[in-house]
Amino acid sequence: MTNTRQGQQSKMDAGHWPEKRAKLDNGDEGQKTGSYLKEGEDMAGTMEVIFSVNEEVGALAKALRLFESHKINLTHIESRPSKRNRDQYEFFVRFDPNAAGVKPALEALRSSAASVQVHSRDTTTEDSDHADAGTFPWFPRKISDLDRFANQILSYGSELDSDHPGFTDAVYRARRKEFADIAFNYKHGQPIPRVEYTEQEINTWRQIFTELRKLYPTHACREHNYVFPLLMENCGFREDNIPQLEDVSNFLKDCTGFTLRPVAGLLSSRDFLAGLAFRVFHSTQYIRHHSKPLYTPEPDVCHELLGHAPLFADPSFAQFSQEIGLASLGAPDDFVMKLATLYWFTVEFGLCRQDGEVKAYGAGLLSSFGELQYCLTDKPDIRPFEPEKISVTKYPITEYQPIYFVADSFQDAKEKVRTWSHSIPRPFSVHYNPYTQSVEILDNKDHIVNLAANIKGDFDILVDALQKVKM
Ligand SMILES: [Fe+2]
Repeated sequence: MTNTRQGQQSKMDAGHWPEKRAKLDNGDEGQKTGSYLKEGEDMAGTMEVIFSVNEEVGALAKALRLFESHKINLTHIESRPSKRNRDQYEFFVRFDPNAAGVKPALEALRSSAASVQVHSRDTTTEDSDHADAGTFPWFPRKISDLDRFANQILSYGSELDSDHPGFTDAVYRARRKEFADIAFNYKHGQPIPRVEYTEQEINTWRQIFTELRKLYPTHACREHNYVFPLLMENCGFREDNIPQLEDVSNFLKDCTGFTLRPVAGLLSSRDFLAGLAFRVFHSTQYIRHHSKPLYTPEPDVCHELLGHAPLFADPSFAQFSQEIGLASLGAPDDFVMKLATLYWFTVEFGLCRQDGEVKAYGAGLLSSFGELQYCLTDKPDIRPFEPEKISVTKYPITEYQPIYFVADSFQDAKEKVRTWSHSIPRPFSVHYNPYTQSVEILDNKDHIVNLAANIKGDFDILVDALQKVKM
């Protein structure tokens, strides 16, 4: 089957969800899959601006003329009614930040638009949002900063490509908009709104849940098989019930501090990975179209809950995921891309060795009936876990992975990623403070002394505990 997913190219150009990948779960080897993660996609050298204007005839044309008059070639445009002000429209545009007229165009836009947000993906481009922090890209410092990502989505979740199974289904599209609106309006600290899934949606879930459960005992890693029954016990993982994100998020929080956060559409790699630094996983809440229960051109609630959720309950895996997120903060674009590749080959498509056997821990595998079987055959190329090589490995997006990397353990993978991340050219180190749920930049003596004092306190507790434990 040839790749017929040309319709997705425009959305790929709009950025990607690092985990976003199509799956053909019908088990047919060689079937093509699609993806929003474009191979070798390079978001460097782009500037994105979200601005709002009062609703009036010709508002968009006026704004576009402004860019045109400064000879700026827009490569992407989106519009939608403003969620913050009913009398306004929001526009999202992308262009090359190196064009000569960028600065005067932004000045003109700021003087005429109701609001302007500039998001530079170019580490050399000045961005007022992080002007006080040097030349590295803006990144969230506290967990509530993740609320900003809701306005930085690159494509709204209800916008379906023409070859999406639900493209011609008006009911499905309206349903997708309901989910996108929930996520768009979500703020940190709020409970995730509960959703009453329809019988049709539950039936789709049932088919996937039933098929995958048959494979888990033999194909999934030890950690997944340990947590899955706990999710059935505590979070309503059943054939006849689609679990609520809020329940799963609360369960994960108790286990590892990870939480789920609904996401309205495509996030850039940088934003998606930044969430992991705070142990926050951006999760979809909708389910795939009922006409193709074993196929989805994008992550859905089945992928998130059956593939990702069980692993985020494991302390070692949670820490590994956070390491990738922390390494991404303020990193140059090329390293964010390398980290997104590392994420791809681990959190999405990772294999590990356990008791002399290879098992799957990647969510893209654990939520795909076809690839979960294929990945453990002798057909793919199985390679050792070496972050330096993984981070530059090309991968196809239209078929099952030809290469998988096998970790000896999450602990080992975490230490290797941590060592590799020292090569990221960043003028500071970061530390996550779980008490304040914030990222501290270790760029001055006071911060470093405080961290040392905290570590000393923990070390004293460790010594005391070791003395009391009968070895
Ligand atoms: Fe994923």
